[in-house]
Amino acid sequence: MTRILILFAHPALERSRIHAGLIHSIRDLQGVTLHDLYEAYPDLNVDPDREQELLLRHDIILLQHPFYWYSAPAIIKQWQDLVLEHGWAYGHSGTALQGKLLGNVISTGGMQSAYVRGGHHGYTIREFLLPFEQTARLCNMTYLPPFVIHGTHRMEQPDMPYCCKQYRQMLEGLRDDRYTPGALAEAVYLNELM
Ligand SMILES: Cc1cc2nc3c(=O)[nH]c(=O)nc-3n(C[C@H](O)[C@H](O)[C@H](O)COP(=O)(O)O)c2cc1C
Repeated sequence: MTRILILFAHPALERSRIHAGLIHSIRDLQGVTLHDLYEAYPDLNVDPDREQELLLRHDIILLQHPFYWYSAPAIIKQWQDLVLEHGWAYGHSGTALQGKLLGNVISTGGMQSAYVRGGHHGYTIREFLLPFEQTARLCNMTYLPPFVIHGTHRMEQPDMPYCCKQYRQMLEGLRDDRYTPGALAEAVYLNELM
């Protein structure tokens, strides 16, 4: 079974509608480890040894977070800066992550129609996520299409069960190797594969 690690980052989980619901719906999933970074490191003192050890024990690494300023909450950056060490994650002898998969699971206040070239936000989500995609490449990992929930500002609470179901199905699909490499390479969003 493919082992999935979710690195979860939400700085104000008590005010979260979307991510609080998403993580609640997948907590019992076999083969999926949920690691809440703000809970583990409230002072942002990320422990590189602990994190590297966790990475080694998993095949797919998902960064789950709300989209903040066209990127991720601060702890994700801190995690990258401290954990993805030269000689371990990248560089001549840095092959620890080789062959693993990396992806983002995000929610955006903006609607999908605003994330197009020339739209309100100017660029596509894939363009905003390019630093993650290239990070995966540098670490000899394969970047997955992102799983995206758009339009959270206008979203009604009744939409949540659908999003949670889709998220759970997506994780089960990845865990059980239901998606072919070709399908993963072609999809813009993981949501399309369900
Ligand atoms: C500090 C901050 C920055 C944000 N930046 C963006 C952004 O760049 N683009 C966007 O579409 N939404 C942005 N949002 C909206 C959040 O993405 C949205 O509220 C969140 O995904 C909802 O998930 P939650 O209910 O789990 O908090 C931002 C919200 C905050 C608080």
